[in-house]
Amino acid sequence: TQAPVNVTVTGAAGQIGYALLFRIASGQLLGADTPVRLRLLEIPQAVSAAEGTALELEDGAFSLLDGVDIFDDAKRAFEGCNVALLVGARPRTKGMERGDLLEANGGIFKPQGEAINAGAAADVKVLVVGNPANTNALIAQAHAPDVPAGRFTAMTRLDHNRALAQLSGKLNTPVSQIKKLTIWGNHSATQYPDVFHAEAAGRNVAEAINDEKWLAEEFIPRVAKRGAEIIEARGASSAASAASAAIDHMHTWVNGTSSDDWTSMAIPSDGSYGVPEGLISSFPVRCSGGNYEIVQGLEINEFSRPRIDASVNELVEERDAVRKLGLV
Ligand code: NAI
Repeated sequence: TQAPVNVTVTGAAGQIGYALLFRIASGQLLGADTPVRLRLLEIPQAVSAAEGTALELEDGAFSLLDGVDIFDDAKRAFEGCNVALLVGARPRTKGMERGDLLEANGGIFKPQGEAINAGAAADVKVLVVGNPANTNALIAQAHAPDVPAGRFTAMTRLDHNRALAQLSGKLNTPVSQIKKLTIWGNHSATQYPDVFHAEAAGRNVAEAINDEKWLAEEFIPRVAKRGAEIIEARGASSAASAASAAIDHMHTWVNGTSSDDWTSMAIPSDGSYGVPEGLISSFPVRCSGGNYEIVQGLEINEFSRPRIDASVNELVEERDAVRKLGLV
């Protein structure tokens, strides 16, 4: 039988963690024949809650779950790590400026990057979910100089899935029939969901909708502000859908995209589409054999260009701010 894959999850006692761990244990992260060993990282105050979740994982009697270890020390949590899901982050609290937020997260993602550099397995793949996800990924990557930069990614798959759901409703087409959608830029309100290359049951989505006003005034804001809509309705931020998107991101990275489709992942830019090299920005991406590449040659029209640029500019500002703080 296959050796278990070490999956490290940070923020394991949080609400995304609670939804995520059971899906990993059931085999949905990597595939139904890959055993996993969970390594949970929490802050000391939340270790007891993580231990409670570990008891429930035991009670799931998952045949693929080889074991659960809990740590409050990043160095140990990332030893031998093959897959890292960085979920725990410092949320913005009242009166907190962006600089304070970035600095507080630097205090989390710098040591985690160092720990990945020191102890992770050679094939480690990192997904940052904790916000501000793109810039937190940049910070972690900056402190892991021995790990190939491209192994650090951030999550825009939830935005991608939200956009698929909206298009499915609008076009009355199942989500499985909608392909080649792209989220560009930052996982923030400036993100740009691009339908101009997307296809619904073989038909170009922008042409099928044929309504730029709807795109600009309903679709884009609905996708970008879906997080706030969920908080308003649920009284808590999206958790199960975020966990589901994290599963999708890593599953696609490991197992590949289908030949007639691509996905959205925030990855280090190689300069494609005018995105400054090194920024961790969302792109259309094809995955195969555990690797990914940016889909090249897409025409960016006048509707899309300023929207992509606005989101990328926000990433530049975040990078400059963490540079000033000495975090990258
Ligand atoms: P939560 O507050 O329920 O859980 C966060 C957990 O992280 C807590 O248990 C906390 O103790 C832990 N934590 C804090 N610092 C840590 C550290 N240094 N090491 C290990 N664990 C640490 O939050 P929730 O709802 O689970 O969300 C987690 C993050 O995911 C938030 O930053 C949220 O903004 C982000 N998020 C990102 C999305 C995306 O699409 N990229 C979507 C939804 C949420």
